[in-house]
Amino acid sequence: MIRSETPADFAAIDRIHTLAFGHDWEALLIRRLRDTASFDPDFSLVADFGEGAVGHVMFTHVTVEDTVNSVPAVVLAPLAVLEEHRSGGFGTKLVTEGIRRCKERGDRIMLVYGGPYYDRFGFKLAREHHIFRPDPVPGQQLRVLELVPGALKGVSGVIRYPAAFKPLLNCTPEE
Ligand SMILES: CC(C)(COP(=O)(O)OP(=O)(O)OC[C@H]1O[C@@H](n2cnc3c(N)ncnc32)[C@H](O)[C@@H]1OP(=O)(O)O)[C@@H](O)C(=O)NCCC(=O)NCCS
Repeated sequence: MIRSETPADFAAIDRIHTLAFGHDWEALLIRRLRDTASFDPDFSLVADFGEGAVGHVMFTHVTVEDTVNSVPAVVLAPLAVLEEHRSGGFGTKLVTEGIRRCKERGDRIMLVYGGPYYDRFGFKLAREHHIFRPDPVPGQQLRVLELVPGALKGVSGVIRYPAAFKPLLNCTPEE
């Protein structure tokens, strides 16, 4: 099942991301985000089909800012599944459930920094909407999804991340 994280999952979540990315930057990001006032475990999801967490995804509020407007959005990051459990649909189930919960909460725009894997969920290249990350990394692509039809109308600008993301910006790993 896909469920909200509990403290009993913390060590497994650390391990999932450290193994998937080959370093602990994402695991540290998750720990920093858990310490923020706005953290909600219902948006930190694990895939657990009976033997503990084998995949994890997190969703965090950000804003997309231009010189005039600041538009709320949610960023999907990080996502990982243990290598021995990949291609079993866990990644798809985690993202699909996250999208469902974010829609139910009233979020309107979702962003992700990642590759064509995300096309299956309807994400499009964010540059087509003139939405950018503050630290573009060659080979990485920001993608965006409307959670509500028309939500991207008139929205453009640069993502402003919570401070917890700062150490990860400018050192994002390869896809
Ligand atoms: C990306 C990831 C979470 C997918 O998890 P998963 O449980 O295997 O996902 P699913 O089973 O839903 O989908 C698997 C499919 O996605 C494809 N896929 C995986 N990574 C991909 C990528 N970067 N680009 C395009 N397709 C990709 C696989 O080839 C597989 O295709 P298949 O179904 O034809 O075999 C997993 O590969 C992972 O943890 N990767 C390392 C961490 C990572 O890159 N996270 C995302 C960073 S933005």
